Amino acid sequence: MDIRLAQPDDLLGMQACNLQNLPENYQMRYYLYHILSWPQLSYVARDHKGRIVGYILAKMDEDQEQPPHGHVTSISVLRGYRRLGVAKRLMVLSQQAMSEVYRAEYVSLHVRKSNRAAIGLYRDTLGFSVHQIEKGYYADGEDAFAMRLDFPENK
Ligand code: ACO
Repeated sequence: MDIRLAQPDDLLGMQACNLQNLPENYQMRYYLYHILSWPQLSYVARDHKGRIVGYILAKMDEDQEQPPHGHVTSISVLRGYRRLGVAKRLMVLSQQAMSEVYRAEYVSLHVRKSNRAAIGLYRDTLGFSVHQIEKGYYADGEDAFAMRLDFPENK
């Protein structure tokens, strides 16, 4: 498994992976906006043929009233490649860049309340905690956990 920074050539593969894995989908220009604006924060995992099997799409939050913080817009790994530590590696690489390049004080994300696998990754493996519950956040009405992980080195 090869993990490296996402490049413009990777965007179609990232979008395909997202469409297979999640109901939250984005226009191509939104992917491009991420990697042009914060080129250090999004990564892809590729199999031996160079096919994209996982990605993290991440950014710095643009709310100027909050301290600088990163935000994970989307992460997913294709079914045949799960439970191998790929998502953990993608998260750690992006978090390191948020902290080192942008001096982020924390990273935030939203996750469905019912998403056991992702909550396990964020809370149990990476140490995130639930900052608040956002009622009806998703298009189908499901609540979101707004989760955060502090970067004490930048506080
Ligand atoms: N059940 C419980 N815990 C899990 C599971 C699961 N099915 N999958 C992962 N975890 C937890 C475990 O603690 C695991 O550590 P362990 O294997 O040592 O027990 C830890 O997360 C690390 O797992 P990884 O192997 O790194 O995770 P993986 O590469 O399988 O990807 C992911 C996890 C991204 C959640 C994957 O299941 C997936 O793509 N799901 C569909 C898309 C999705 O839900 N994405 C997140 C949406 S929220 C957002 O994008 C901000």
